[in-house]
Amino acid sequence: MAVPSPEELKNLRDCFREMKQTCFILGASGETGKELLAEILRQQLFSRVTLIGRRKLNLEGKLYSNVSQELVDFEKLDEYAAAFQGHDVGFCCLGTTKAKAGAEGFVRVDRDYVERSAQLAKAGGCKHFVLQTTKGADSSSSFLYLRVKGETEARVQAVGFDRYSIFRPAVLLCDRQESRPAEWMTRKVLGVVAHIFPTALSIPTTTVARAMLNNVVMPGPSGQKVEVLENATIHALGQAK
Ligand SMILES: NC(=O)c1ccc[n+]([C@@H]2O[C@H](COP(=O)([O-])OP(=O)(O)OC[C@H]3O[C@@H](n4cnc5c(N)ncnc54)[C@H](OP(=O)(O)O)[C@@H]3O)[C@@H](O)[C@H]2O)c1
Repeated sequence: MAVPSPEELKNLRDCFREMKQTCFILGASGETGKELLAEILRQQLFSRVTLIGRRKLNLEGKLYSNVSQELVDFEKLDEYAAAFQGHDVGFCCLGTTKAKAGAEGFVRVDRDYVERSAQLAKAGGCKHFVLQTTKGADSSSSFLYLRVKGETEARVQAVGFDRYSIFRPAVLLCDRQESRPAEWMTRKVLGVVAHIFPTALSIPTTTVARAMLNNVVMPGPSGQKVEVLENATIHALGQAK
């Protein structure tokens, strides 16, 4: 994948803005999702942004004038099909952990909620779906986390979007509010490693967010509906400003 120069990126963004596209974000209250929303607002890429989530976020001020929120019950998503109507692009940064939700809950959120949301989005007219999974996602893995992420990728692919971008970041670097001791320790160690090998094992959520948006304004690879962006590619794309 060729990373656009600053000049090319500026032109791509200008052309994209002219199309007045709309988008939704699943998981906008999460670490990646909130960076994505901030970057979308900074770049003013979309004419309307809809946050689809289980709780209302406190977004006040002029900055959020083209942002609306749809509160849904993910256990009864079919009743909220209207929330998924009329978006050109869908971003999904949804996810929980086994520690938080148990194994069944994790599968329910990270695979089933995502799959049903993708189906409703496609039915509602969404053309480009951007899904955040993880480095190592693999439907044949013996590790639950990687297997479920691989299954989610495959199920969303089966939905048949015109364009589908899969982001597989490594460990996310961010100032997470929620207490996740093991992840916190990993992040501390990886923060040091990142100084020496910046693209190997981790990635800042800000970089993931920028890479997602740079991907969206770029044309997809010709003749290919599905793109998989691994950690190093996300780094490279997310550096482009
Ligand atoms: N952590 C890592 O290092 C890492 C590495 C690679 C990939 N990933 C993957 O990247 C994605 C984003 O990760 P992140 O750390 O940015 O996310 P996060 O901060 O954990 O946020 C997750 C989002 O999902 C929503 N969510 C969680 N459980 C839900 C439920 N039961 N019903 C409805 N919404 C629910 C949260 O909403 P609320 O705010 O309402 O809870 C939040 O918006 C996840 O799929 C994750 O598995 C993570």
